[in-house]
Amino acid sequence: MSEMGNLSKQLLMLFLFLFATLHFPSSSFAEVFFEERFEDGWKSRWVLSDWKRSEGKAGTFKHTAGKWPGDPDDKGLQTYNDAKHYAISAKIPELSNKNKTLVVQYSIRFEQDIECGGGYIKLLSGYVNQKKFGGDTPYSLMFGPDICGTQTKKLHLILSYQGQNYPIRKDLQCETDKMTHFYTFILRPDASYSVLVDNRERDSGSMYTDWDILPPRKIKDVNAKKPADWDDREYIEDPNEVKPEGYDSIPAEIPDPKAKKPADWDEDEDGLWKPSKVPNPAYKGPWKRKKIKNPNYKGKWKIPWIDNPEFEDDPDLYVLKPIKYVGIEVWQVKAGSIFDNILLCDDPQYAKQIVDEYMANNKEAEKEAFEEAEKERKAREEEEAQRAREEGEKRRRERDHKYGDRRRRRRPDPHEYMDYHDEL
Ligand SMILES: *[C@@H]1O[C@H](CO)[C@@H](O)[C@H](O)[C@H]1NC(C)=O
Repeated sequence: MSEMGNLSKQLLMLFLFLFATLHFPSSSFAEVFFEERFEDGWKSRWVLSDWKRSEGKAGTFKHTAGKWPGDPDDKGLQTYNDAKHYAISAKIPELSNKNKTLVVQYSIRFEQDIECGGGYIKLLSGYVNQKKFGGDTPYSLMFGPDICGTQTKKLHLILSYQGQNYPIRKDLQCETDKMTHFYTFILRPDASYSVLVDNRERDSGSMYTDWDILPPRKIKDVNAKKPADWDDREYIEDPNEVKPEGYDSIPAEIPDPKAKKPADWDEDEDGLWKPSKVPNPAYKGPWKRKKIKNPNYKGKWKIPWIDNPEFEDDPDLYVLKPIKYVGIEVWQVKAGSIFDNILLCDDPQYAKQIVDEYMANNKEAEKEAFEEAEKERKAREEEEAQRAREEGEKRRRERDHKYGDRRRRRRPDPHEYMDYHDEL
């Protein structure tokens, strides 16, 4: 290979690099602020809090792929002890979503019958003592499922604004089955948002309207009155219509042209014969003008919307306090939820791809593993029930035997009586 050849190769590489850079400007690449798949090294990033530990109410996490993983090597963080508070957090490079789209995404699988408990994550701002991270620690965003009984299956979406928490005003619902589900929250610089579950949009809207953070931009003008000359009649009678000559003299009924005087009609006895009356086909009812569209129709009058004097726009409404930590802080009656695939980035497309990949590679395998586990569980339960039945049967037999003997002994024996009488 000559020097020239090497040089031209280098030029070609340079050319390719420039080509790629020009055609895929950096803005089209995702900026990933934080991504946690709980692979090797996760322990160096996460700090388990001691919150509630001295009271014996703090739970621990297990690093596991769980009972029915789509991929047995894909581990997550699973809540491990029943009826405990869980608090764990990871410090991340400080992140501001100013001028940026923020995507918050993670997956959770409720392997347990949770009964009551949360499965959400939190983004924390400012300084946090991670060893003391707990339910009272302020957060900037809280997002994810919260299940209680059969009634509550809430999908929380709480944003903090100037130190106060605002839940979304909509009633969003989470998934309650035992499969992995991805929850995605997208917040854009125009304060619009989307909520996705497994890449399907659950809801979307605007922070201006779906949170009670700022007063509404427009309000109804309560002082407005319908103007006196407001014509809200959609149809009117045609003023140009003229009543046809002789219209009113058409009778409603006419003598039945088919009626015949009966042959035995005796006018002296029965009076003057008159044919019965029938409706007149020529009669069209009282004269009415035809209705036409009202050319002056202005539509139904509505109370007008006016600018709300209380509204003061904050163009940074969507800007969260700089995020410094991702945290899990939940309480659960029954443990066993696996958190995984936590992602903070600026590109919904990248986030979508993560979910697509999971769906393509793991979903089917997970379903099969779950069905297998269910089969095993049912077989085990059946076996236990069978053993319990047999155990019960055995105990009953033993008892019957014992009590049976006693009963037999107690039962009056006719021979005893006979003997007794004999003795008399
Ligand atoms: C956000 O965008 C505005 C307008 O383009 C710009 O003036 C401002 O410097 C940007 N701020 C940040 C933090 O990027």
